[in-house]
Amino acid sequence: MTDTSLPETQYIRAKDAPQRKIGVIKLYEPEDFEGMRRAGYIAASCLDMLHEHVKAGITTEALDTLAREFIYDHGATPACIGYRGYQHTVCTSINHVVCHGIPGEKVLKDGDIINIDVTAIKDGWHGDTSRMWAVGSVSRKAERLMDLTYECLMKAIDLVKPGAHLGDIGHACQAHAEANRCSVVRDFCGHGLGQLFHDEPNVVHFGTPGTGPELKPGMFFTIEPMVNDGKPGVKLLSDGWTAVTRDRSLSAQFEHSMGVTEDGVELFTVSPAGLHQPYKTPAA
Ligand code: MF3
Ligand code: CO
Ligand code: CO
Repeated sequence: MTDTSLPETQYIRAKDAPQRKIGVIKLYEPEDFEGMRRAGYIAASCLDMLHEHVKAGITTEALDTLAREFIYDHGATPACIGYRGYQHTVCTSINHVVCHGIPGEKVLKDGDIINIDVTAIKDGWHGDTSRMWAVGSVSRKAERLMDLTYECLMKAIDLVKPGAHLGDIGHACQAHAEANRCSVVRDFCGHGLGQLFHDEPNVVHFGTPGTGPELKPGMFFTIEPMVNDGKPGVKLLSDGWTAVTRDRSLSAQFEHSMGVTEDGVELFTVSPAGLHQPYKTPAA
């Protein structure tokens, strides 16, 4: 008897698929990588540009304005503006905010940690990336959490190649976080992207090796683990966007957009300025 409990993963050539979410994983062509490189370069360069501005005294709204102008100046558009009613270019998630913090009048202060997440659309292609910054000097606990979260992302990326499974990626993030007495958030995940912002598959940051869809050349997706220095539970604030840790523990996140190649992975959102862990390079 065959096991029918797990539906077989379906894939479709992206050029044969409608440009909407259809419950099937799209496989892009080698020439489509160039579009993703350009979009990813703009998103990563936008975060590089913000680096010198992330310091005590600036508002998150000012950072958002800088990012918006940068993206338009580079012939791209901010994917978040108008996305499900969101009105900003970046998400700014400070301290116990897990993700989707809304830019506003909040002023950065010494000791804060902040994730800035940006998505640019260039010629129809999406580049989605986020990093962590430290404002002034932060606690060792905060620095350790940011290191751990970056390591979770990179350990997961190391496993991306044809024949690997999404469960391998989730397991890598979860195992490393939990081995260090932290936890991974279950309520938000990475995602397929390309000509859509959020597409199949869901890329969860927990799981079991060898399970889940198999990675194939031409898959484009993000990995974006959120790691809490406490329990994994989150709650949504009344603004409908801001997600915070239930236990008010600190949370950190890093995100890259990537494509599966014939023999491994290509990252589309590498920092041109080498600011992969900007919290290690204080703003001037
Ligand atoms: N950039 C986020 C992600 O990684 C999505 C933000 S959606 C927004 O998927 F509307 F909040 F901006
Ligand atoms: Co994303
Ligand atoms: Co993002």
